[in-house]
Amino acid sequence: MLTGGGDCPGLNAVIRAVSKAARKSGKYEVWGSKQAFNGVLKDEPDIIKLTRSKTAGIHVRGGTILKTTNKGNPLNFPVQQEDGSWTTIDRSDELIEKINKLGFHAVISIGGDGSQTISQALYEKGLNIIGVPKTIDNDLSCTDLTFGFSTAVQIATESFDRLVTTAESHHRVMILEVMGRDAGWIALHTAIAGGAEICLIPEIPFDFNVIMKKIQSRYKKGRGFANIVIAEGAKPIGGTVVGATAKSIGDKHIKLGGIGNFLRAELEDRNCVAQIRTTVLGHTQRGGTPIAFDRILATAMGVKAFEMVQNEDFGKMVAYKNYRMETATLKEAISTYKVLQKDSYLINTARSVGISFGDK
Ligand code: F6P
Repeated sequence: MLTGGGDCPGLNAVIRAVSKAARKSGKYEVWGSKQAFNGVLKDEPDIIKLTRSKTAGIHVRGGTILKTTNKGNPLNFPVQQEDGSWTTIDRSDELIEKINKLGFHAVISIGGDGSQTISQALYEKGLNIIGVPKTIDNDLSCTDLTFGFSTAVQIATESFDRLVTTAESHHRVMILEVMGRDAGWIALHTAIAGGAEICLIPEIPFDFNVIMKKIQSRYKKGRGFANIVIAEGAKPIGGTVVGATAKSIGDKHIKLGGIGNFLRAELEDRNCVAQIRTTVLGHTQRGGTPIAFDRILATAMGVKAFEMVQNEDFGKMVAYKNYRMETATLKEAISTYKVLQKDSYLINTARSVGISFGDK
């Protein structure tokens, strides 16, 4: 078993559930590879037996006891050359050979779209692999929810509530930037839960003038205030996302962040009636203890993953659909991102309670 990509509240609950179910069966041993596949790939494999003492009570802890990395793609493994520069090589055959030599029957990979893309490639090369979906962004296809998402929403909503009272006191406009690289799930849930005036998400590019109008209408009847939730991946109509290219080798993602302050500057340039302040929530959304719902979802997903090992249901991912724990092929799960549909009941709910998406 391994955890790959960014961490997420609930990873330890999956690890504990798989280990417990396997122990109960009396037929399996579960081992964990440290830092995704990097542990197995080390000359002296960095793997640990997930015994009762290693996993007891860990479901309440954030992070992952197996550690993680977003630079552990065995198909594109970063290697430093003699002159100090970096290149990448394909170590997937070596990885599969090592896993087989170590005597493992199956691999459970807990990760998001990037990790499950690796899982699919390794499955096509013959590895008995099963995926467990993980991301606070909730943008993985084939599953209604991923664990960690609800915890991130809870953290963002608690922060939002605090910003409302200070916005009210100072008659200010408060911008809360939350995570959500390709999809606005966290932003939309936070905006509805907190009662935002404006919610800006990657799926709906926004118009500064529409936002200005909404703010002005809030201040028309005296000294108002306004709260805006913006996803890190949101962008203006005709514009691009705000972020910087990752400098470290093997980490292909552009590092998003800064759209909140960009929005503040644009609104100030348009002579916004109020003072504006920005809060960037960042990785606080990924850290700390999972809320009860995520512990339960992660535990159920771990139990399902072990059931899939027993049934030799490889090349598939655990999928939570309509209150049932089911499976989906890895191929289907990675085929597209699960983004918010513009006609979804949640977007409609938000619009109906007066939340503007900055588009009309
Ligand atoms: O995919 C989850 C996520 O938290 C995104 O919302 C965010 O853009 C990204 O990971 C941040 O990754 P890192 O921790 O590598 O900066």
